[in-house]
Amino acid sequence: MDTVTPSPAEQALMAAAGRVLPAGSFGNMAGDIVVREGRGGRVWDESGQEYVDFLLGSGPMLVGHAHPEVTAAAQAQIAKGTTFFANNRHGIELAEAIVEAVPCAEQVRFVSTGTEADLYAMRAARAFRKRDKILKFEGGYHGMSDYALMSVAPKRPGNSLRPIADSAGLPGSVGDEMLIAPFNDLDVTAELIRTHHDTLAGVIVEPLQRIVPPSPNFLVGLRELTSQYGIPLIFDEVVTGFRLAYGGAQHFYGVVPDLCSLGKVIGGGFPLAAIAGKAEIMAHFDQGKVGDAGFLKQIGTLSGNPVAAAAGLATLEVLKRPGVYDRLFKTGRDLIGVLGELLKHAGIKAQVIGAPPLFDVVFTDATAPIRNYRDMLTGDAKLAGRFNALLRARGILKGEQKYYISVAHTEDDIAFTRDAWDDAIKELVAERQRG
Ligand SMILES: Cc1ncc(COP(=O)(O)O)c(C=O)c1O
Repeated sequence: MDTVTPSPAEQALMAAAGRVLPAGSFGNMAGDIVVREGRGGRVWDESGQEYVDFLLGSGPMLVGHAHPEVTAAAQAQIAKGTTFFANNRHGIELAEAIVEAVPCAEQVRFVSTGTEADLYAMRAARAFRKRDKILKFEGGYHGMSDYALMSVAPKRPGNSLRPIADSAGLPGSVGDEMLIAPFNDLDVTAELIRTHHDTLAGVIVEPLQRIVPPSPNFLVGLRELTSQYGIPLIFDEVVTGFRLAYGGAQHFYGVVPDLCSLGKVIGGGFPLAAIAGKAEIMAHFDQGKVGDAGFLKQIGTLSGNPVAAAAGLATLEVLKRPGVYDRLFKTGRDLIGVLGELLKHAGIKAQVIGAPPLFDVVFTDATAPIRNYRDMLTGDAKLAGRFNALLRARGILKGEQKYYISVAHTEDDIAFTRDAWDDAIKELVAERQRG
């Protein structure tokens, strides 16, 4: 069993997508599935095929699709108007909730996407430091701005760590403004910071880079180094915010940055993201505080959208309840354990890495721990793609790289996933034997 044949109605939609959308898709997932609806930890495609959903909208749906309380909160606001451009109650209350939850957050500025949040976080660091360069880590993903697209996923990274443009259309000069370091390598990072501290505006890092966890002391070391030179440290918490813990990765790992970006979960499935951080740096969004020269102009039509903020607030209400993160972590731990065992039993070289709320398998020798982007390249991406395809045919929906876990995933979902993994792994082994 390799593929599920889509119904004629879904095929017609795919054909239309092929005509009017470049590459037949929105640019995220391939256009070989058209999702019709989701409930809890499951989604259905336009053919009526049901999937256990580990894509979860690429992370936002932490409490599950169509959560009744989130739906009710959004609907209540929709009936009263959907956007105003002016302050609204839900946005103010959501900002308060973020300040209460996230250790570095003294103030919050809303935007609509994680890309914007990261872009403005970097810009705020530049405004504060009055310097230009940003250090990011190779393989770190911070959205789609020109700067963020340096060395995200270089196919042939070469020996050096010079910035490599990962998209067409970027001005050649952008690379001059970026420094690239290897994740989890404090020595090389320290050397770069020491050499360039006088031109460095900020350091941006995914505290859990994609699915690669930070080594013990890496984030602490980064915090110490940046503090030593007065360089703002930015945690990109678009994925980890409210997922690794209610207070995000900074709470989970116990390292507090100066600024962070948030997205995904805080919008409850609607477009909403934020820059949050120390008042001293956030002051650059306030002309009255910093004057014309220090002012960072920031406007967005849908920023702090009331429907998104209401959905985000309702999501946080659910997450705040006792035992929610225990359940999320237990589900993730159970799944990681099962997947690791099945792969081991089948004699397939693999590591399951990440954290219980988000993880994936990397098909590589289990003896060498994966510490950075280059280690990730040792994984057999073709095999991973094949495994994902076999799983899709067995009712599991996930992205290319990441199982996102939801508090809505049930014991049934775990059992179903176990069977799908078991069957897909047997097929991988059979395919290998067939050569
Ligand atoms: C760590 C990280 N930062 C930033 C972004 C960009 O967020 P958005 O897709 O909302 O622009 C993403 C998106 O997946 C992300 O994973």
